[in-house]
Amino acid sequence: MNKTTFPLVLALLALAGDPASAQDVAAGKAAFAQCSACHSIDGSNGAGPSLVGITGRKAGTFPGFRFSRAMKGAGFSWDEKTLSAYLADPQQAVPGNVMPFSGVADAQQRRDLIAYLATLK
Ligand code: HEC
Repeated sequence: MNKTTFPLVLALLALAGDPASAQDVAAGKAAFAQCSACHSIDGSNGAGPSLVGITGRKAGTFPGFRFSRAMKGAGFSWDEKTLSAYLADPQQAVPGNVMPFSGVADAQQRRDLIAYLATLK
């Protein structure tokens, strides 16, 4: 290994060990195309609530959006675990919620999306 490749290898190792790598965020941003018809990232509400600041927010509380009773009563905050469960199977995670979206079956794509959502502050 020469002097130029060594730092590169270190950087790649660091990325591989990072739970939300730059690649995940980029892939998640691309995958968000499935969501953007309903969800803004600029704080405005559309068919769905804005997802700005979603990570750490209590479910069903974004100001100005008329959530279903089911979502208002979900009683948890959005983190990696709850987002993954909801995005995998919205109806199973929050029965009776009204998001007209069947879910993201691919676990890697869910991880990518969640990494991207965490950047929306
Ligand atoms: C066709 C419109 C539509 C699409 C597409 C859609 N959603 Fe939604 N989403 C909604 C609606 C409507 C709600 C509110 C549900 C309720 O109140 O029961 C919602 C709620 C949510 C919530 C809970 C928000 C909160 O503040 O508690 C999250 C998180 C979410 N969606 C993520 C996503 C992601 C990520 C995608 C893409 C993979 C997506 N949604 C695709 C319409 C959509």
